[in-house]
Amino acid sequence: MRSLIIIPTYNERESLPTVMDRLRRSVPQGDVLVVDDNSPDGTGDLADAMAAADPQIHVLHRKEKNGLGQAYIAGFKWGMDNDYEILVEMDADCSHQPEELPKLLQAVEDGADLAIGSRYVPGGSTVNWPWYRQFISRGGGIYARFFLGSNIQDITAGYRAFRASTLKAIDLDSVTSRGYCFQIDLGWRTELAGLKVVEVPITFVERAEGVSKMSGDITKEAVINVAKWGTTARARVLRDKFNALVGR
Ligand code: GDD
Ligand code: MN
Repeated sequence: MRSLIIIPTYNERESLPTVMDRLRRSVPQGDVLVVDDNSPDGTGDLADAMAAADPQIHVLHRKEKNGLGQAYIAGFKWGMDNDYEILVEMDADCSHQPEELPKLLQAVEDGADLAIGSRYVPGGSTVNWPWYRQFISRGGGIYARFFLGSNIQDITAGYRAFRASTLKAIDLDSVTSRGYCFQIDLGWRTELAGLKVVEVPITFVERAEGVSKMSGDITKEAVINVAKWGTTARARVLRDKFNALVGR
């Protein structure tokens, strides 16, 4: 299947050459799309230089920093317009080891509609991740599973391979998530659509260069949205039950 690996970037000048080099070696048949939000450190120019030297590398430039979620949506649309069958999400900082990508692609080839590189299934792990990030990640996962009734163990995971048909089934135009709750949003939508989600164990390695873009606003957006989605969905179920009961 033709695959496109989408890498969103904001100030990833130090990391991009390493991730690109490792990725092109481990999945040479895959094309790559860097989606840069006009990084002040010049990541966009660096990506352009890489694209000029390698016809399998492409770059999408966006005007301003508008969140990981919206960068991915732009990348997905570009990929679907160009007839890719698998669309991959991968961070630029090598936390998602390119050498593990073949496992995710294989899961989709074997029938998954969405393959998630998971830290929290047997065999999965994190390396050098500070305790407070692990706490937020684990806590956020429990919180999201509680509100949404999701079965995904690592629902905030950002290493994923989507079958293009999955993205067509979940109405991307209605996705407004900007930060990391985008991952929860898409995982849950995939489950609700009755599609097959497979979690593949991965080792998540904390970045060696640059800094995380995680922020208080991103956390706040996730906490509020998850509670909103969950209560809206439950209210809908209750309303349907009530209507059925009174014969409406
Ligand atoms: N274009 C664009 N625009 N890229 C962005 C933006 C943005 O506004 N914000 C972040 N990124 C890019 C970063 O440059 C990086 O390539 C990737 O998105 C992930 O950002 P990090 O800042 O490295 O995320 P993290 O390590 O804190 O968080 C990781 O764990 C989260 C929790 O599990 C990521 O894997 C997240 O996706 C995940 O939700
Ligand atoms: Mn990171």
